Amino acid sequence: MNSKLIAPSVLAADFANLQRDIEMVNESDADWFHIDIMDGVFVPNISFGMPVLEAISKHAKKTIDVHLMIVDPDRYIKTFANLGSNILTVHYEACTHLHRTLQAIKAEGMKAGVALNPHTNINVLEDTINDIDLVCIMSVNPGFGGQSFIENTYSKVKQLKELITRKNASTRIEIDGGVTNKNAKALVDAGADVLVAGSYVFKSTNQLETIKDLKLIANS
Ligand code: DX5
Ligand code: ZN
Repeated sequence: MNSKLIAPSVLAADFANLQRDIEMVNESDADWFHIDIMDGVFVPNISFGMPVLEAISKHAKKTIDVHLMIVDPDRYIKTFANLGSNILTVHYEACTHLHRTLQAIKAEGMKAGVALNPHTNINVLEDTINDIDLVCIMSVNPGFGGQSFIENTYSKVKQLKELITRKNASTRIEIDGGVTNKNAKALVDAGADVLVAGSYVFKSTNQLETIKDLKLIANS
């Protein structure tokens, strides 16, 4: 059974050929579309916004996993639900009332995710883990694709896995940033369930093969 999932990050796609790249993911062994929304405030970069997500949603035939790297994400929960997001992930560091935000996301019919920056300790989720469907551990500092993987991630994954088990939660663990065929197996062995891969997939010469290999490695 292929229980470990692959989520290509559309940030690394060719925006001049977006439909082509979306169709490639549709036809591939990938499981989710990972969509990075950046506001230029929470992170030092601006990616794309609602009209682009709307266009992606029109063609995407797989789960849409939206990663919000924005301040005060509560303002846009309804909007992202209406744009077709299936999973909405907010940053722990951007939420003053995380518990309320998680409930608001679920009230809109989406799965609720929380992303942690590399400097944020897993133990901040001790009191909310049972309310979280997905924890996205950032294995790079958010804001850009193509950065190198931070090695400390493995111990964070293990710590999160231990928390999930101890609290009897059903939370999935997602890894975002610098994922390749080199670290995929070790991440899964540490407890990861979902691997986001941007440049590794879209900058490769045979994207379908790259996704297929990553999926095989993750489930080996
Ligand atoms: C970084 C984004 C990632 C990024 C991953 O802020 O959240 O999803 O697209 O890209 P790669 O796989 O190239 O590190
Ligand atoms: Zn992301």
